[in-house]
Amino acid sequence: MSAAPASTLQVGDGGAGIPRHVAIIMDGNGRWAKARHLPRVAGHRKGAEAVRATIRAAGELGIEVLTLYAFSSENWRRPEEEVADLKGLLRHYLLAELDELAANGIRLRVIGDYSRFGPELTRMLEDAVARTAQNQSTTLVIALNYGSQGEIVRAAQALAEEVRAGTIDPASIDTAAIEARLDTADLPALDLLIRTSGEHRLSNFLLWQAAYAELLFVDTLWPDFGRDELFAAVADYGRRNRRFGGL
Ligand code: IPE
Ligand code: IPE
Ligand code: MG
Repeated sequence: MSAAPASTLQVGDGGAGIPRHVAIIMDGNGRWAKARHLPRVAGHRKGAEAVRATIRAAGELGIEVLTLYAFSSENWRRPEEEVADLKGLLRHYLLAELDELAANGIRLRVIGDYSRFGPELTRMLEDAVARTAQNQSTTLVIALNYGSQGEIVRAAQALAEEVRAGTIDPASIDTAAIEARLDTADLPALDLLIRTSGEHRLSNFLLWQAAYAELLFVDTLWPDFGRDELFAAVADYGRRNRRFGGL
């Protein structure tokens, strides 16, 4: 399926329009490499190019927030060499792309316990977030050592501490109180969650936030994803009728 350019993108009357917040489970790098008899890291490298194209296309579409699942809290189970390759790529990506992200008005944010990537990457990530904090175009959220269950556990611990300190009444804890303590606090609600590579699971990504998100599973492997695929995904979203339990 090829997508229409932004100016002619048909979102349909009464459809969902352009999503404010899109999240992507960027899956299939390894299979992309395997199909070409290349090492897995070649798939991750090509995947970084797909990230670049997707961020640009998100800007064109006027998507406010793009959240990308780059490394899960379960991905530490991979061989040490692959984890090292992924860390190296993240470092390389930040060094190579930060100027362009900043110049394009992109605001970077990180979710997940990224401190586990070590002091150098932690400092680089925090510098990048601080440097782009005032930017006004797309917010790019990178999920690093992110796991949704762990995120919810941390929110519960924070609330428990506040109850113990006497600053919050347990009876007053509502969905907003939990949302405010998630890593995604203050971001607009998740509208569209895309997973590439033909797998139909969430792999511990944005479980709370996906409560009413539209889900889209595509067979494209992440390294083959880009502008056309994002436009097609947004067009598909635009034809949907979101009901949120109502009629
Ligand atoms: C997604 O691609 C990238 C990360 C999880 C970091 P995979 O590496 O999971 O690729 P497949 O699923 O093995 O093809
Ligand atoms: C999900 O992909 C994590 C990221 C894309 C970063 P995985 O490849 O790790 O997911 P599973 O293991 O197939 O569920
Ligand atoms: Mg995978």
